[in-house]
Amino acid sequence: MKPDMEAWRDMRFGMFIHWGLYALVGHGEWAMYNDPIDVDEYRRLADRFTAEKFDAAAWARIAKAAGMKYMVLTTRHHDGFALWDSPSSYGRFDAMHAAAKRDFVREYVDACRAEGLKVGFYYSPIDWRFPGFFFPRMYGKSADDLRRQCFDQIRELMTNYGKIDVFWFDGGEDYWLCHGRNLHNDTASTPENPQCPGFWHAEELDGMIRSLQPGIVINNRYGAREYGDFLTPEGYVGAFNTSEPWETNVTFNGSWGYIPDWPPYSLRESLTLLSRCATGDGNMLLNVGPKPDGTIPEDQAERLAEIGAWLGKYGECIYGTRGGPWKNDGSGGMTRRGKTLYVHVWEWKRNRIRLPALGARVLNVRALTTDSLQWKEEGGQITLAVDADARNMPVTVVRLDLDRPADELRADGIWQDVRAD
Ligand code: GLC
Repeated sequence: MKPDMEAWRDMRFGMFIHWGLYALVGHGEWAMYNDPIDVDEYRRLADRFTAEKFDAAAWARIAKAAGMKYMVLTTRHHDGFALWDSPSSYGRFDAMHAAAKRDFVREYVDACRAEGLKVGFYYSPIDWRFPGFFFPRMYGKSADDLRRQCFDQIRELMTNYGKIDVFWFDGGEDYWLCHGRNLHNDTASTPENPQCPGFWHAEELDGMIRSLQPGIVINNRYGAREYGDFLTPEGYVGAFNTSEPWETNVTFNGSWGYIPDWPPYSLRESLTLLSRCATGDGNMLLNVGPKPDGTIPEDQAERLAEIGAWLGKYGECIYGTRGGPWKNDGSGGMTRRGKTLYVHVWEWKRNRIRLPALGARVLNVRALTTDSLQWKEEGGQITLAVDADARNMPVTVVRLDLDRPADELRADGIWQDVRAD
């Protein structure tokens, strides 16, 4: 059963969490591969993974206060370490057998539910511990074991934790196999020409997940393109697209996994990203990288609280909206809900902004973010201006109430028509 995507779109803003043994190394989530670290030595990190300050309730409170509506946790990244009690983990490389001896996923699920947040699981089918990942045709049995682990672990996740709302694959596209280890160009694995097409049995995987969790929303990073319910632009804002659901996933500071002392983006950068996603009709999944002790770095938590304070005041222009109907561009865009249109401006290039002819009667115009709005209607076109010190604070939002639903407007081109004055 394919899910109804409207409720997922309404949420607009979620928290991504990259956390695992790699936090102890402090070089990001690819530390094992990039440094690189010997497999057995990496395994010994589990003996030091005490996570003494891990408190899933604190994570969920931070997400909620940030105005986020859902969370997605890396239950298992490419290093193979499972954050839950996972009997089918190869070699029992899981949190229950690490120093912490806890099922972090269970605590996380309970905490999300307690705060009324939707629950998402990130899971990477690949596992760098298997030679069959790097050389699937040479180490066929190892590659088969890798696939079996993937099916068995996903079955655990989809069976033992109650209702799960979002499944977030990564690295499950067939061309990821042999990643970075192609010695001969003619055997290189690419999206156009994967070395092992159909490797993950995506159709069967998809069927298993949807039958165990009817209504679950799944991203598009497994098997062929026809699988999955939403697109996943990574590290950039998705293009304006009202026909296919999408979610931009971004780091908060340039790294997914914890790296000490990498400060998060500014409030202005963070909110502009969210506004750019919403006006393009997409969601945004903003990442935090907790420390090895399990806590979200203070500077990331503080910035999230600021984002939440802004959304507490002006969130009506984000939640439950759809992007457009006019296309956004580099300086602003629109969101809409019913008979309301929200104009978002994150860069005032000139003093005034002239909107396209709306083809609707405008009943009321009001700026959410400033008292200094001046507006006028001329020849069916609305012009907006605000005081210079009210621009970009960090996003200017103006609300227009119309006499008809905004999605009935005939919108061609982009959201604004700037007159040079
Ligand atoms: C990339 C990275 C991975 C990260 C993911 C998030 O695929 O390889 O480490 O988890 O992006 O989208």
